[in-house]
Amino acid sequence: MLNHPSFAQWLARIERGLECCLPDRTLPPVRLHAAMRHAALSGGKRLRPMLVYATGAVNRADPDALDAGAVAVELIHAYSLVHDDLPAMDDDDLRRGRPTVHVAFDEATAILAGDALQALAFECLTQAPVGAEVRVELLRTLARAAGSTGMCGGQALDLQATGQQQSIDALHRMHRAKTGALIRGSVRIGALLGASDAATIGQLDAYADALGLAFQIRDDVLDIEGDSAQLGKTAGKDAAHNKSTFPSLLGIDASRQHLDALAAQMQAALGAMDERAEPLRQLARFAVQRGY
Ligand code: IPE
Ligand code: IPE
Ligand code: MG
Ligand code: MG
Ligand code: MG
Repeated sequence: MLNHPSFAQWLARIERGLECCLPDRTLPPVRLHAAMRHAALSGGKRLRPMLVYATGAVNRADPDALDAGAVAVELIHAYSLVHDDLPAMDDDDLRRGRPTVHVAFDEATAILAGDALQALAFECLTQAPVGAEVRVELLRTLARAAGSTGMCGGQALDLQATGQQQSIDALHRMHRAKTGALIRGSVRIGALLGASDAATIGQLDAYADALGLAFQIRDDVLDIEGDSAQLGKTAGKDAAHNKSTFPSLLGIDASRQHLDALAAQMQAALGAMDERAEPLRQLARFAVQRGY
């Protein structure tokens, strides 16, 4: 599905970038640094950094200029997963096929590792090779994506909705915030680093908005249809925890129809962009069809 030749190169870049940016495991406090490395270097699809590279590629950006943005969004994502898995939130013990951070270490260390990954993301983004004005805009974009009107806000809505029947509009808002905000932020960071023009940014925003929603609907469907070995996380947790999800509100068939509609929206948003948008087109298909 992701057979464009650039993906392998981008994957290598993000693994190298994370390795360089994370504190060495011998540097004190070693337990905290080991927990941060466990969270960020333990696999994962790396979708958000791929979006930074694929969006930058639309404007022929040099990948060297995109590395800091790619690492920053993955660090925010890694932190969000550490906290999402905590006993006070989803209480999960398996992530990316390995014990979650609070299981492998302890709860206090997991909280601090998440906090420190978040701080490191912003530090890393300050190193983006762009002028001061764009750099401030990058930092603002990441802060908004992660904060109380972005991912954290969406997680708050998720907790509030647990055990409740919410409207389809409220479910859209929750998914757009908890998962969509960082996905939109990743595309916007790629656009800023690639110096996209206003019209292209409009197209990319529409693409990212549909992608963020689709990605979480697919995640909800996979929680029902996938198995734990394939997902690397415990399947069936949403129903067990009475989570408010697309399939729980609308059923699997309607969730699939939503995914089909969003797939069409994503391709329409990219419109007549030339072959440089092919990685974004493949990522759109991946978001709705993925099996893990
Ligand atoms: C899982 O994200 C949490 C959601 C926002 C749905 P991913 O499915 O991108 O997780 P990794 O990074 O591949 O493990
Ligand atoms: C997580 O959504 C969204 C985040 C902001 C981390 P889920 O709780 O559905 O993610 P998984 O299924 O645990 O990966
Ligand atoms: Mg959750
Ligand atoms: Mg979860
Ligand atoms: Mg889930």
